[in-house]
Amino acid sequence: MIDKLKELEKEARSKIEAASDLDQLKEIKVGVLGKKGALTALLRSLGNVAPEERPIIGQKANALREELELTIERKEQSLRDALKAGQWEKERIDVTLPGRPVQIGQKHPLTMIMEEIKEIFIGLGFQVVHGPDIESEYYNFEALNIPAEHPARDMQDSFYISSGFLLRTHTSPVQIRTMEKLAPKLPVRIIAPGKVYRRDDDATHSPMFHQVEGLAIDTDISFADLKGTLLLFVREMFGHGQKIRLRPSFFPFTEPSAEVDILCIMCCGEGCRVCSYTGWLEILGAGMVHPRVLEGSGYNPREVTGFAFGMGVERIAMLKYGIGDLRLFFSNDLRFLKQFD
Ligand code: DAH
Repeated sequence: MIDKLKELEKEARSKIEAASDLDQLKEIKVGVLGKKGALTALLRSLGNVAPEERPIIGQKANALREELELTIERKEQSLRDALKAGQWEKERIDVTLPGRPVQIGQKHPLTMIMEEIKEIFIGLGFQVVHGPDIESEYYNFEALNIPAEHPARDMQDSFYISSGFLLRTHTSPVQIRTMEKLAPKLPVRIIAPGKVYRRDDDATHSPMFHQVEGLAIDTDISFADLKGTLLLFVREMFGHGQKIRLRPSFFPFTEPSAEVDILCIMCCGEGCRVCSYTGWLEILGAGMVHPRVLEGSGYNPREVTGFAFGMGVERIAMLKYGIGDLRLFFSNDLRFLKQFD
């Protein structure tokens, strides 16, 4: 009987030792200590043992039960610990790993140029104002002295919304809206940046593009003020060695009118393919506000004068960054956009 007990103990201990999970351990426990377990069965057979040996064997068996219970409990604890450690391991964060870089966006090159233009004119005392993208024919044409039969009014050039309303073809209508609002206050010094729309689409024309309009009105504004203002702007924008050239031109809303050139960005005036061997590049239109425009918007052309100008933002960006195709600005190609970081 004693031998059987020893045998049972040995077997039970080695099984407990080998148990690899809690379910297995439970099975072992039931198999040894349970109602139908091996130790229980052994105790039941005590009847076959000589009466004087019974208490000794009974004691030994009970002691073994307690020991095995304790051993199983310890094993259970160690299996639980191992399980927890495994979970920790899975959740562990390696703080020494390099982080994943976050992709941050950046300003669109046109936004940057627009902001640069604004900064320069704000520094000269101009205020930034805005007008609507959908304009009436009155503000877009009539008030700017563009007569009904003028080609600019043609359906071929403009996006009409309904009769009498269209997507503005230039930012010049903001001149009229500003004067109507401010007249007869002086001085007027505003710039109006924004989107404009024309029925054009090729490498240098997009159906939507951006302009910045400028307007200054006071009692003694002269053509020299216009020229000085534009020269200062051009030098801030393109470098302090820059020069401008004014060529006589025509706009219905200015008189006299001029087209303004800067020294070619590529050849600095030497003459090259970019400037068609003239040494100059056109960057904007300008002039003295036409008396009829002043009068129609609430200012007395016998008392005040003004200058105005309008420039294309895409054109300035193309010149400044040496970009050949306007459509790159609107194609959202990151390889292009990232170059302006
Ligand atoms: N509005 C003209 C255009 O879109 C540009 C322009 C020319 C604006 C002369 C002006 C100006 O204010 O004086 O082509």
